[in-house]
Amino acid sequence: MLRTEDTNETSGLSPDERTRLAIEQAATEVRALTAIKGRKLKSAVVTFGCQMNARDSEKLRGILESAGFIDTDSEEEADFILYNTCTVRENADQHVYGRLGILTGLKKKRPDLIVGLCGCMMQEPHVVAKIRKSYPVVDLIFGTHNLFTFPELLAKILREKKRVIELWDGTDSIVENLPVKRKYAFKSGVNIMFGCNNFCSYCIVPYVRGRERSRLDTDILAEVRALAADGVKEIMLLGQNVNSYGKTLSQGTSFPQLLAKVAETDGIERVRFMTSHPKDLSDELIDVIASHEKICRHFHLPVQSGSTRILGMMNRHYTRETYLSLIEKIRAAVPEISLTTDIIVGFPGETEGDFQDTLSLVREVGFDSAFTFLYSKRTGTPAAEREDQVPPDVAHERFERLLAAVKETGEAASSRFLGRVMDVLVEEQNKDPRLMSGRISQNITVHFPGDKSLIGSIRPVHLTESKGFYYFGELA
Ligand code: SAH
Ligand code: SF4
Ligand code: F3S
Repeated sequence: MLRTEDTNETSGLSPDERTRLAIEQAATEVRALTAIKGRKLKSAVVTFGCQMNARDSEKLRGILESAGFIDTDSEEEADFILYNTCTVRENADQHVYGRLGILTGLKKKRPDLIVGLCGCMMQEPHVVAKIRKSYPVVDLIFGTHNLFTFPELLAKILREKKRVIELWDGTDSIVENLPVKRKYAFKSGVNIMFGCNNFCSYCIVPYVRGRERSRLDTDILAEVRALAADGVKEIMLLGQNVNSYGKTLSQGTSFPQLLAKVAETDGIERVRFMTSHPKDLSDELIDVIASHEKICRHFHLPVQSGSTRILGMMNRHYTRETYLSLIEKIRAAVPEISLTTDIIVGFPGETEGDFQDTLSLVREVGFDSAFTFLYSKRTGTPAAEREDQVPPDVAHERFERLLAAVKETGEAASSRFLGRVMDVLVEEQNKDPRLMSGRISQNITVHFPGDKSLIGSIRPVHLTESKGFYYFGELA
């Protein structure tokens, strides 16, 4: 693997020892700064993007906490601000540049402030070149492949107070046992694989997250058991395409087998997974879901387009018809399942006819909800090179029509549990403090009167009012 700048001489140590040593070094620096300032140092980690990034941020927070920082949500109060970035669409990038402008102002008031950037955007050379040149506010940059070197980079920046940039072009290793600070006590994501080999023609993820690598099932199950022992009830298994789990390993465990083992772990009450690609969704997976009550009755199955022609150009490896037959199979095996999807509008070459195919697929499936995206051109992807880009006004107009269709079918579908008593995992207090909020197995939110002592427990709730994509209810 290639590195653009190297930082530390700790060869000969195991990754675990190296991490521990670097955290100790960072902690020494934090103690010295704490003594000078006469108060504890605070850090804020701000996450953009998907569940994978959210899980990475829990590791970043774990490292910062082990080094002696106090975690805060307030960037105003923080001595160290770290943005864990996403680059899946152009607006994600723009958002980060906008925030960097604000941080430039903040740093004028507080010159000691340290600003770090990591995550997917940092794996794009043109982004890093722009930040190097135009954003002197940024002190630290690292990428997705070397997240585990963060302790070393943190120690270095605290010690030397000079800009630190370390980026790797790729990695074939997986470093286990980083410290983690979970956002929720009762639920956790668990990475089962990293990277993506699918190269959908519009998507930047394979370029910024690298080639697919699966974790050993023994490591995953040990993590799940440890989380269960620590009070976790709900596990979300994470990967860009969980159906390819294990293909890079010789152990022979498939995703459905792994999912079954996780669901059978003592103490785990709910298991979810994200994301499943339609091209290699097996009958075995559907059987495992049907036969394990603890696997949540929710399937997120991104379709992207309802037109077989566009799906071909997207390099998705399935057709409208094969997608629809998968939906039929899933519904036949698990009738209570809720179905959600991702859809892109305005992929290059999309005609009104192709778009009509997407609209009719949305109506035919009746998704509970759908994440809809305007196609965004990503530098380096094959679709960005195409000359038949859809004009923005045409794409926007289609997007509005799609939203209306999703709202109509989604409201009808997700209100079908009205009047039932369903188990709710209580997650948090609502903005209205008299209400608690949680989710049913189908991943639909329910708000109901209650108090904070319910957080983390699974309670039967009577669903008394449907609001379209969520419910109001009462403890049963
Ligand atoms: N690995 C997941 C998706 C990860 S990205 C999967 O294949 O299902 C999440 C979603 O972002 C994708 O499903 C897609 O709908 C959307 N997306 C990805 N690249 C995009 C682009 N260039 N423009 C618009 N939406 C995009
Ligand atoms: Fe992107 Fe496709 Fe990989 Fe999902 S499967 S991350 S959409 S390339
Ligand atoms: Fe964004 Fe990276 Fe996830 S590009 S969607 S944070 S894998």
